Amino acid sequence: MKHNKYLYKIRFLLISICILASLIGCQKMDEDEEKEIQIGVVVYDEYDTFLSGLMESFMNGVSEESKNGRRITVKRYSANGSQITENEQVEEMIEKGCNVICVNLVDRTDPTMIIECARKADVPVIFFNRELVEKDLQSWNKLYYVGADALESGIMQGEIAANIWQSDSSYDRNGDHMLQYVVLEGEAGHQDSIVRSEYSVQTLVDQGITVDKCESSIANWKRGQAQTKMGQLIHKYGESIELVLCNNDDMALGAIDEYVAQQISKEKRPIIVGIDGTSVGLQAVIDGDLQGTVYNDKEGQADAMLHLAIAAVTGKNFDQLPYFDGKYIRFPYVRITENNIHDYIIEE
Ligand code: GAL
Ligand code: CA
Repeated sequence: MKHNKYLYKIRFLLISICILASLIGCQKMDEDEEKEIQIGVVVYDEYDTFLSGLMESFMNGVSEESKNGRRITVKRYSANGSQITENEQVEEMIEKGCNVICVNLVDRTDPTMIIECARKADVPVIFFNRELVEKDLQSWNKLYYVGADALESGIMQGEIAANIWQSDSSYDRNGDHMLQYVVLEGEAGHQDSIVRSEYSVQTLVDQGITVDKCESSIANWKRGQAQTKMGQLIHKYGESIELVLCNNDDMALGAIDEYVAQQISKEKRPIIVGIDGTSVGLQAVIDGDLQGTVYNDKEGQADAMLHLAIAAVTGKNFDQLPYFDGKYIRFPYVRITENNIHDYIIEE
């Protein structure tokens, strides 16, 4: 009898321990659900127009999430064009407790330090906009990429230019049935510069247009540099330039600035096309200065980056991310000309 009582006590104790353990387990799960998301974000250059728009959209998304009760903080950095600075900033983010980081690489061929550092601390990394090589992205399962397909933007830009050229013969300024063109390129080595420059022209050729290249000139995505380069090109080729293909809108705006500065009227200017659909770029389409652009969906990319960051920390809802294949998210581009521009002006 005494022996039975002893056993009963042990059983009671064991059951209590089990209940307590499962309660602690529940609490642990709740904590996970409410886990604070601390995101570190670094851009290669805070003055880049497209990325400023993307970041603005990202921060709007963060405040929406916070309003909905999600505990979320963001530490923002700009690498000012230095990969070494960016590596240090990533180290600092991790030291300061960021549990996910978003990196806009300065040098897309050099993500090794960042990957090593994040891997050691088991912090997932979302690279965005400047695409690293696939081998690097595949080197750890907590690395992701958010952006768009450069090839598509090049093709769409070529299609816009081809349509305008084929529907208005007055652009053939010298009447030789050949399209004399110049290209204003982004940074050397950037996948968007390389691919857009190649495929915009290839698309013109595929449409049966005989092209005649005057020159291409690097202006590093920048409006000011593009204006200077356009000045040199106009000096060299004068009115014989019939098309200016620009790797982004800011450079297209720089080209327009130069035509305006030289008081060359709209009727005498070449076809000018950009890529991005930044708010200034869209305004130039409305004003009839820019014949077309290709929309680079900064809102979509920012939203996907934020939700991928949350998923990477909580381990949940990966299946609700748009265009996600487990590693990459790539948003489609859209052609914009005067015909559909009004669908893209959201705020009036
Ligand atoms: C491109 C964009 C450019 C520039 C660049 C920076 O996708 O079209 O305007 O922002 O990224 O990496
Ligand atoms: Ca011609």
